[in-house]
Amino acid sequence: MAFPGVGEGDRPAALMTTLGRRLRARLRLMRHSPPLRMPSTLRALGILGMNERNGDYIGIYNDRRHYPLVDDKLKTKELALAAGIATPELYGVVEIEHQVRELDRILDGRREFVIKPAQGSGGNGIMVIADRRGVNFLRASGASVTRSELEHFISNALSGMYSLGGLPDKAIIEYRVKPHAVFDAVSYQGVPDIRTIVFRGVPVASMVRLPTRQSDGKANLHQGAIGAGIDLASGRTVDGVWFNNVLDAHPDSGNRVRGIQVPDWDELLTLAARSYDLTRLGYLGVDVVLDRDHGPLVLEYNARPGLNIQLANQMGLLSRLKQIRALAQVPDDAAARVALGQQLFGG
Ligand SMILES: Nc1ncnc2c1ncn2[C@@H]1O[C@H](COP(=O)(O)OP(=O)(O)O)[C@@H](O)[C@H]1O
Ligand SMILES: [Mg+2]
Repeated sequence: MAFPGVGEGDRPAALMTTLGRRLRARLRLMRHSPPLRMPSTLRALGILGMNERNGDYIGIYNDRRHYPLVDDKLKTKELALAAGIATPELYGVVEIEHQVRELDRILDGRREFVIKPAQGSGGNGIMVIADRRGVNFLRASGASVTRSELEHFISNALSGMYSLGGLPDKAIIEYRVKPHAVFDAVSYQGVPDIRTIVFRGVPVASMVRLPTRQSDGKANLHQGAIGAGIDLASGRTVDGVWFNNVLDAHPDSGNRVRGIQVPDWDELLTLAARSYDLTRLGYLGVDVVLDRDHGPLVLEYNARPGLNIQLANQMGLLSRLKQIRALAQVPDDAAARVALGQQLFGG
């Protein structure tokens, strides 16, 4: 649940304004028409807004009863595992305060792992441990963490400090994803993730989120990660967007963001499409990471995916969604739905 109710999912106004401005400028050039106005302009440009997303898509296609499956990362893992969908391996769960003592058992022999709240969001409360140094742990950033600091961090997670609604939570300890080298030149530390919007089981848009120095290795856009659109047919990246600016180079490395071929692209989209069968959520955000050794892994699902995938792709979602909405039936087979999405929206 990247941004349920908070974060980038619900902070679209500035982004949409920027997208609108850019598309309007483009239209102006094309048609020599006078400057257009909001919000009818945004509608004309086919940009999905917050109210439409909530009312016409989430409200109609997402049954609230299925939310707990995606709002709790532990439940998502169990669900995915049962369906043969790969996720980062679960090392252990700490559920109540006194279980913090069980850490020794969970962490025995492990030099690297990730701790996160089961119901966290927006990249909050995530500790990535990359190595050990004596009795201490080293974060991905290189900072040292003592055992008691680690326990304190977990206690905070259990108290709900980072979680939806602030209710008591569980702490997940899992495999630390080793990112595939494909994005090395355009990510600063951390693990890029690939977000796909899957509507009625059909992939309609994708973007990759690339960590920057500012985002502290996390792939959350409002923390300062770059979002780069991906062409559905080819799996190649288009321009990137950083905060509200289009850019073609990574701010830290200066390397080009455009034209990167995502490996295992069709497999990744099929994973995303199959996630619909799993969650029964008709309007779903699927976040996948590419692991060096294990290939595509589902990191999390989102029942209220954000709108800025439109900015990253410099296109509005509305016409795509309407085309899928108009279908009397969508194919049962996930691979057929991928082919449909690629045929309709790729290129
Ligand atoms: N197992 C992991 N290994 C490495 N990095 C991770 C792992 N889990 C999360 N991260 C990093 O933290 C970010 C946020 O994690 P995520 O599970 O998506 O939670 P949230 O709901 O807070 O977005 C990810 O985009 C990724 O960059
Ligand atoms: Mg996330």
